[in-house]
Amino acid sequence: MAELTLDLRALPKTEAYEQLNAHVRAVLEGTTDPIAAMATMSALIHHAFGHLWTGFYRVVEEDKLLRVGPYQGTLGCLEIVFGRGVCGTAAAERRTVLVEDVDAFPGHISCDARSRSEIVVPILNRNGALVAVLDIDADVPSAFDDDDRRGLERIVSWFAEN
Ligand code: SME
Repeated sequence: MAELTLDLRALPKTEAYEQLNAHVRAVLEGTTDPIAAMATMSALIHHAFGHLWTGFYRVVEEDKLLRVGPYQGTLGCLEIVFGRGVCGTAAAERRTVLVEDVDAFPGHISCDARSRSEIVVPILNRNGALVAVLDIDADVPSAFDDDDRRGLERIVSWFAEN
C-alpha cells in the first residue's frame, strides 16, 4: 500500500489538497464508519505533507471533554478539556484555529517539543453537532495558512455528508 500513500509536497498546496480530497473520498467510498474515516484521513494527510503529528480528538462529553482518536506521529496526550490548548479552543469556539507560533499561544499543550506551528479544524456531523477536531502539528513555524484551512475543512466535510 506504500505507493498509495502519496507524498504531495512537490505540488502547490491547492493542487495537493485537490488530490488529497479525491484520494480520501475514493478510499472511503462505501463506508460510513467515522473511525475508519479518521484513520484514513490521518494516514493520507500526514504522509502527503510530512507533518509532525496528524490526528483526531473526539468529543466524548459534550462541551466538556475531548479524547484522542486515530492519529499518526509520536505519542499524543489522551484527553483535552474544552477551552484548553489549541484543540480545546477550536472545540469550544467551533472554529478553525491557526497557530503560527505555538510558544505564543496561551495554554498550548505540548505533546512533542519539536512542535512549532499547528492547525486545528472542528468537525461537525450531518446534524451540525461537533463530533471531533482534526489537529495537525508541524516542526516549522507558520507551516499553515488559509489554503490549509480551506483544504482541511473540505476534507473533513466528509463527516457531515456520511
Ligand atoms: N498541541 C495541542 C495538543 C495535542 S498534541 O499537539 C497532539 C493543543 O494545544 O491542543
